[in-house]
Amino acid sequence: MSTMTQNKIIENIFKEIEAIGDISQKNVVPRGARVLLAYKVFRALDRHRFRLEPADIEECLGDLVDTREFLENLLKENNFTESEKTQGVVKEPIEEAERMQYLYGLAWGEQSDQEYYHGASHFKDRLLNSNIDISFLESANCLDLGTGHARYALAMLHLGAKSVTGVDFSKYCLDETERRLKSHSKERSKIKLVHKDVYDLPKDMNNTFDFVCANSFIHHLSDPERALEIVYKTMKRGGHAFVFVFAEDNTPTWRAIDLMRELLKPVPIWHTHKTVKGFEVPGNKIFNFLDYSYTPIQHRFKRKKFEKTLKDIGFKDIKFLEGGVIHDSVLRSRMFEADKLLYGNSEIRYLLKK
Ligand SMILES: C[S@@+](CC[C@H](N)C(=O)[O-])C[C@H]1O[C@@H](n2cnc3c(N)ncnc32)[C@H](O)[C@@H]1O
Repeated sequence: MSTMTQNKIIENIFKEIEAIGDISQKNVVPRGARVLLAYKVFRALDRHRFRLEPADIEECLGDLVDTREFLENLLKENNFTESEKTQGVVKEPIEEAERMQYLYGLAWGEQSDQEYYHGASHFKDRLLNSNIDISFLESANCLDLGTGHARYALAMLHLGAKSVTGVDFSKYCLDETERRLKSHSKERSKIKLVHKDVYDLPKDMNNTFDFVCANSFIHHLSDPERALEIVYKTMKRGGHAFVFVFAEDNTPTWRAIDLMRELLKPVPIWHTHKTVKGFEVPGNKIFNFLDYSYTPIQHRFKRKKFEKTLKDIGFKDIKFLEGGVIHDSVLRSRMFEADKLLYGNSEIRYLLKK
């Protein structure tokens, strides 16, 4: 089967799921079923990218067909009561920024310590596997924008950095970070946590940092270009920056995520969180599933346009990172044709200079 045919089949299944459930209508599919359906879609694509072998497209198609049949049977066999369809109306932050803060506090809290350290180790692997000389981190003063639970801040210190200032506007996240770093007194004294919106950083942070990190951050902001300018401004001349953003490339990856977001629109975050936790899903998966499905802002940049923006802002030596870890889309797409079809270059990373 050609790549185009496979892509078309996947797209058709997504359309069928949308049509059968009429998922835009709030009450046709009850909440529990929406969570299950969204998680099945997530799993169908996610489960291939952690294996050291090409994605199995037939298996992925099978999972998606199974999801469609699940929905079909569910709607055929059940007459849901009004309360089943709408139960559990609970107040959750509606406003974008507050919702973002709430989401990440909840999601980061799910990672086990082992997953946390494993995630931190990706920072080094992504740079080294892209043939980057990381000696610039030696004794560097670093800034980690949207630090979350500071896993990359910890990684920078382990690679020789002198200090890291971690900025995040979510108090929930920073409380989680404090808890996480309790057992790291040596590193804790070198990490300064700043509870601030990135757009409100003080001017005295400009031209200050040897290294600025914006990992999975810029695409969650209302004005990404302004945020990139802040990355640039806060760097010292000659300093480095690491930026990772989502990229649009017409792969089923984003189509699946759009479907998950649509399915879960009427479902409160707490409900989904509680449901997937009940399935004993690993913390990392809960994090990714909630992150993709609920983040209020999720830009996806066109690679060429994004690189032009970086250039226009003034970044120099713009290096696209081709290496990575086993689940990185760019690396997988280079290794396996099947993965190119499923994941494409949906996540792009750069090392930049000022
Ligand atoms: C996907 S997480 C990435 C966390 C971290 N960089 C990592 O990779 O482990 C995005 C983080 O950005 C934070 N964030 C989003 N918008 C922000 C803003 N306007 N100012 C500061 N932090 C923000 C969120 O609270 C969240 O912790």
